[in-house]
Amino acid sequence: MSHLVAPSILSADFANLQRDIEMLNKSEADWIHVDIMDGLFVPNISFGFPVVKAVKQHATKPLDVHLMIVDPDRYLNEFKEVGANNISVHFEACIHLHRTIQKIKELGCKAGIAINPHTPIAHLNDIVEDIDLVCMMSVNPGFGGQKFIESTYRRIHELRLLAQTRNPNLLIEIDGGVNHENSLPLLQAGADVLVAGNAVFAAADQTAAIKELKDVSPTTKMV
Ligand code: DX5
Ligand code: ZN
Repeated sequence: MSHLVAPSILSADFANLQRDIEMLNKSEADWIHVDIMDGLFVPNISFGFPVVKAVKQHATKPLDVHLMIVDPDRYLNEFKEVGANNISVHFEACIHLHRTIQKIKELGCKAGIAINPHTPIAHLNDIVEDIDLVCMMSVNPGFGGQKFIESTYRRIHELRLLAQTRNPNLLIEIDGGVNHENSLPLLQAGADVLVAGNAVFAAADQTAAIKELKDVSPTTKMV
């Protein structure tokens, strides 16, 4: 499978959100990454249900919702209702993670776990079979435009090895500081989905920036 590109609308122009969604519809983007922040799990607040619903009205691509909120179980139904196709919850935010994942699947969404840069990959040992994707944070969550953390490469290798035997279809999504320089080594390390906020929306030609991320072609994966 060729890799997927998921532009993050956290870096979009919120005063022209419809225009930016239409740009994504026409681009080679595969998913639209939607960052939800509650000011508690992360030190920032992004947007909530009415905005996601408005995005959904215009989007022709799946919404990949990344919940950076405490106790996300409270809101899973609502995110499904406003149009989420994938829902990722943070490993660090869930006490009964297995139950939360089952609930996301019951809603008919792809179920993902987002994992902070300091959380050991081994903590996914007993849940990796139950999920569709891991959203591996390559920055500390909360803001767009941060610097990529280099230990991500090692962590991708470790997760890819774990997934090889336990869940070969697992998608590894990299979120934070992804750009045109690190996209190739990330794919070579075993990434499947590239999230990009700043690298897309700060570009002069956003459609071309998405195409550039999509056209990266790893000849050999270093698994
Ligand atoms: C960070 C968010 C990311 C962010 C990525 O907390 O989860 O999705 O939008 O933005 P860039 O690509 O600018 O780091
Ligand atoms: Zn995100």
